[in-house]
Amino acid sequence: MSATSYDAYEGLNRLALDRAGQAEAFDAIGDEYEAAFPHKEGQIASGDWLAGALPAGSRILDAGCGTGLPTARQLSDAGHRVVGIDLSPTMVKLARDNAPGAEFHRLDIADLRAGRLGGTGSFDGIAAYFSLLMMPRAEIPYALGLLHDLLRPDGLLALAMVEADVDDFTIPFLGKSIRVSGYLRDDLRRVVRDAGFDVVGEDSYAYAPASTDVPPEIQLFMHLRRA
Ligand SMILES: C[S@@+](CC[C@H](N)C(=O)[O-])C[C@H]1O[C@@H](n2cnc3c(N)ncnc32)[C@H](O)[C@@H]1O
Repeated sequence: MSATSYDAYEGLNRLALDRAGQAEAFDAIGDEYEAAFPHKEGQIASGDWLAGALPAGSRILDAGCGTGLPTARQLSDAGHRVVGIDLSPTMVKLARDNAPGAEFHRLDIADLRAGRLGGTGSFDGIAAYFSLLMMPRAEIPYALGLLHDLLRPDGLLALAMVEADVDDFTIPFLGKSIRVSGYLRDDLRRVVRDAGFDVVGEDSYAYAPASTDVPPEIQLFMHLRRA
């Protein structure tokens, strides 16, 4: 299907997407990321939900896959066809090593609006764990709209965000600076519903990273179905 079928891109096309520094930070962090963020029980439980709710062999996008651990590896080991993308070339390389059963591309989530990995309805499921939080709030509804369009009807999205009332806010992160956005949970529910998803499950975890360079956080996992 042609890229022009994506209504959800219209607004996104008007935004200037400023990714300066975001990929570079993750390139520099590399596999330090795994050491700084161990014990991802919430993410693994959410990945179990996504893996188990879809029939074996489903095509699943890991949007902002990072090192490929745990998620791309977990979904691929569960028998799904996993396509991971990330802004950072270093993360894509690590993911290829960590999840050899999946395929990976260095792509911006916003690049998917050009139909780079298929058109409307070309994925059965999507995992977007802590990647949309690296976008300004103005972009997040369009990115969710894009992920909605990439899912087949009734397709599933597992979304993780950090609960915080911030927009494009610069934070120190493992010796680098990155810009992050977040919502309080009621606001996040509204944003995902407005993007065309039903909330079918939700969990939150207090998470303390191993590194003192990153503050403790409340992680929100939302399990969503394309309405
Ligand atoms: C906090 S990490 C999370 C990685 C992985 N999803 C996980 O939960 O372990 C965020 C990742 O999203 C990637 N990322 C940020 N913005 C992105 C974008 N617009 N498109 C693709 N990847 C992006 C970063 O390079 C980084 O690897």
